[in-house]
Amino acid sequence: TLEIVEHGIICVSNGVIKSIHRVGKDYSESDSTLPPSVLLQTLGHDDSNNTPPPTIHITPKNHFLFPGLIDTHIHASQYPNLGLFGKTTLLDWLNKYTFPLEASLADPVRAKRVYSHCVRRSLQNGTTTAAYYATQSARSTNILTDVLISLGQRGFVGRCAMDSDLQPEWYRDMSPEAAEEDTSACVAYCKKADQSGRVRGVVTPRFAPSCTRETLCRLGRLLAAGEQEGLLCQTHISENKSEVELVKELFPECSSYAQVYDVYNLLTPRTVLAHAIHLTEEEITLVKSRGSGISHCPVSNMALGSGNLWVRRLLDEGVKVGLGTDVSGGYDVNVLEAARMACLVSRSVAEGGVTEDGKGEDSKISVEEALWLATRGGAEVLGLEGKVGGLEVGMVWDAILVGADEVPFDHTPNGRGNGVKMPTEAHHEGKKSKIGGKVDFFGWESWEEKVAKWLYSGDDRNIRSVWVGGELVFQK
Ligand code: GUN
Ligand code: FE
Repeated sequence: TLEIVEHGIICVSNGVIKSIHRVGKDYSESDSTLPPSVLLQTLGHDDSNNTPPPTIHITPKNHFLFPGLIDTHIHASQYPNLGLFGKTTLLDWLNKYTFPLEASLADPVRAKRVYSHCVRRSLQNGTTTAAYYATQSARSTNILTDVLISLGQRGFVGRCAMDSDLQPEWYRDMSPEAAEEDTSACVAYCKKADQSGRVRGVVTPRFAPSCTRETLCRLGRLLAAGEQEGLLCQTHISENKSEVELVKELFPECSSYAQVYDVYNLLTPRTVLAHAIHLTEEEITLVKSRGSGISHCPVSNMALGSGNLWVRRLLDEGVKVGLGTDVSGGYDVNVLEAARMACLVSRSVAEGGVTEDGKGEDSKISVEEALWLATRGGAEVLGLEGKVGGLEVGMVWDAILVGADEVPFDHTPNGRGNGVKMPTEAHHEGKKSKIGGKVDFFGWESWEEKVAKWLYSGDDRNIRSVWVGGELVFQK
């Protein structure tokens, strides 16, 4: 459920939410420009002890503050390929579009340009935390780390470990030793470059088919060694049926795809598994028992025809789930696109399709649940629960200011304003104002309705300010 504070004050100090006050409606009803003196009084600010008064920001009319969005799976390196997938599916898509592009980012100038664009666009869309894949190149991966630090987004940066013979020889790690060493080096680079811990390295075996057993084993050890400091692991699992078959052929000694990762100690409470569409009941039980989280990437799943994840089943089983854009399997860096697609896919799962039985009404994901997945769910998956994902006392100020005054909230005098009344308008009759003799449709919706409109048709135009750790990192 959404908890809405219609008239309130949030106090942030050193990047952390210190207190949240609900203030009387009377204060802010008139024009929402509450005089600072009244604010200071409300906060109990005492002038006599010479402490400087806090800086005050007032949220404009028809705007709201919301927790920053969390993208649990995105390939920054694939940003230039947004929308390029044609009729391919996963394995041919990787070979045709993805590996050539990623390999080209070994050029540091190109890497910097691509990563800067991607991270900037992600921030502009309200993403305050993202778990990134870079490329196989350690040098290129460290450039992504630099970009994140300089643009201020909270994030995880993974170098793709990939040394199997299945990889093209022009784009692979040359040995398990190299795969391990370069992974370690990139994790260490983050630690050195950003002591605040806002940007962290993540162990990233690309997916089982691109790694040898020896590499999976070494990465499992690396992950175990980083347990104390909360080192994460991210990879792909059970995205596509041909991929699942391939894993069976490559690892015949394992009873399932999930077991491959488990055997090498890569299924941990700090592991993020992208896609997970075709997991069996036994695999879900295994994932749940290891405490690993799932990154649901519905846009990518639809684009590459990978399949529909039955997300309700995972939630009911108590598996952690967040959302991923999976750029460029997904065609949009906007987490809202993933959130609304999660809703639509869940409706399709509920109804069933040509080949599948409908899973029933309960499988539908509501607007509120999709936004939960896009914030709190993502925080749980990335081990940041209690720190980000909500606006609560003690949490970090990772937040966005959303303008509910533009698309899709536009004033449309020649459209809906043509004297045709929506059923709900009669209800809001008393709140309408006149501008130039025309009916003003700004703000006739309830806050729940505004949030629903934002989810389904909002975009970066609605994102006005973005804060990470209390720092303003983007403003329109
Ligand atoms: N599986 C292995 N690599 C990739 C990738 O880059 N994108 C997606 N969607 N799946 C993968
Ligand atoms: Fe991916």
